[in-house]
Parts: sequence; C-alpha cells; structure tokens
Amino acid sequence: MNKYTNKTDKGMEAVKKIVALIIGISLILLAACGGEDTSSSGEELKELTIATDAAFAPFEFMNKGEVTGFDVDFATAVLEEAGYQASFDNVGWETMLQNVVNHKADLAVAGITITDERKETYDFSDPYFESTQLILVPEDSNISSVKDLEDKNVGVQISTTGAEAAEKIFGTNSDQIHQFDQVPLAIMSMEQGDVDAVIVDNAVAQEYIKNNPDAKIKTVEDKEAFDSEYYGFMFPKDNELTEEINQAIETVIENGTYAEIYEKWFGQTPDTSVLN
Ligand code: ARG
Repeated sequence: MNKYTNKTDKGMEAVKKIVALIIGISLILLAACGGEDTSSSGEELKELTIATDAAFAPFEFMNKGEVTGFDVDFATAVLEEAGYQASFDNVGWETMLQNVVNHKADLAVAGITITDERKETYDFSDPYFESTQLILVPEDSNISSVKDLEDKNVGVQISTTGAEAAEKIFGTNSDQIHQFDQVPLAIMSMEQGDVDAVIVDNAVAQEYIKNNPDAKIKTVEDKEAFDSEYYGFMFPKDNELTEEINQAIETVIENGTYAEIYEKWFGQTPDTSVLN
C-alpha cells in the first residue's frame, strides 16, 4: 500500500513537471510568434487591410504565394511609420475599387493614379510615384505614335487611366478598345495577335519587357499624347487615416527609406522633387 502511494506521488511529480514544461514552451512560442505583431513598446499594432491587384509588376505581383513589389515595401514602411501593420489582400482591380467604397478594405495601394474623377469617390494620399502611359507593340510593328493607332485595336486594363487614354483616342464606346481584367491578359492578347497594341503605365511596360526578353515586344512613347500621372494610396472618402498616412509618407520619403526601396526595385536613385 505504502509502496503504491509512493509510486503515485512520483507519477504526479513527473506529470507536474511535464505540464510546467509544456506551459513554459508554449509561452516561449507565443512570445516568438507575437513578436511580429508587437511594437517595441509591446503593444499590438492595429492591422490595416490594403486591397490590391497583384498583376502589376514591379509595383505588386505574386511571388511564391506572396504579394510583393515596390508598393508592398513602400506601403508596409509607411504604415509601420504611422503605427500600423499592413495586410495585403489581392482581390483584383475592380473588386479593389469596390472594397474601398464598401470599407471592406482600409485603403488600396496598386499603382493607382490620382485623378479628379476618382477624387469624387475616394480620398487620396499625397503622390508617391510619377508615371505616364506607354504603348506596347510587337517589335516589328510600325506604330510609332498615338496617331498610328487610328485604325488599330488596342488592349487596356478595364477602369484604368490606360483605358481612359484609349477612350480619348477612339471615343468612349469604340470597339477598337479591348478591355481586360488584368494587364498581363491584355499583353497576352497582343502576343496572340488579337490586338495591335497595349496602353499601360510606363514602368509596368518596361518591367514586362525586362522579364520577357524573348517576347519580341517594344515600347512606344508619345509625350504629346500622354501626360504625367501620379500614384497615391486610395482611401474611402472623408477618412481620418489619410492625414496620418500623409505624415508617414512624408517621413519615409525624407528619411531615405523611400530611396532605399526605390533603388531595390528600379536600380536607380529617385528624383523625389517630381512629387512636390
Ligand atoms: N495607374 C493606372 C490607374 O490608376 C493603372 C493601375 C493599375 N494597377 C494595377 N495594380 N493593376 O488607372
């Protein structure tokens, strides 16, 4: 009997030790996992959902299941500066636009051009990137300006400034304009010979050529036809976040983080004076 009791005590001791060990390990694991979500002061950072269309390299694209790109690095740095954690939600271009209106996303970042028309529906941050439209054509094409597009078919991404530029050239409901949900689909359609050209943001056109050297595609500039555009973060209208984020954008540009991210993705030093 005595022996028996003794054995049980030892057993209990062992169980207690194991339980203590498990609790200890769990606490260590919890601390390690929580590290990312916690600021230096130990507080949880509030997570903001950023809607995007990750088919727009080098600004946002999918790599091994992750949204990556210049916009991702920049927006993450800006949100962190403002005290938030960025969570990207790759929902596609048109859903992204809706999600901001419906407050399903806190903001959208996707190489989005600040336009007067969009300002009627959305708030925008200060500009963070200068862009313009370019024409992508097959290498052997003799299209050398917007004028040469007159009797041609062009591909654009729907509801973008590229689509707007095409409407200016051909008229709003022209059947020469072929609208695609994503930029890569428009370019594929040109490679298959279904459209003669694609109108798209310059850095994206250049990145496509860089990544697809065998595609036999070239860019055509038309400085007379295409103005400068400026990218901004897009918010629901009358949002108190906009001002906070603007402050953080200013800091991230001034403290050199912007230049670092720009160099990583574009291999050169940015001219930030174009943003003023
Ligand atoms: N800058 C253009 C616009 O605002 C095109 C942006 C497209 N972005 C994207 N992630 N697909 O209309």
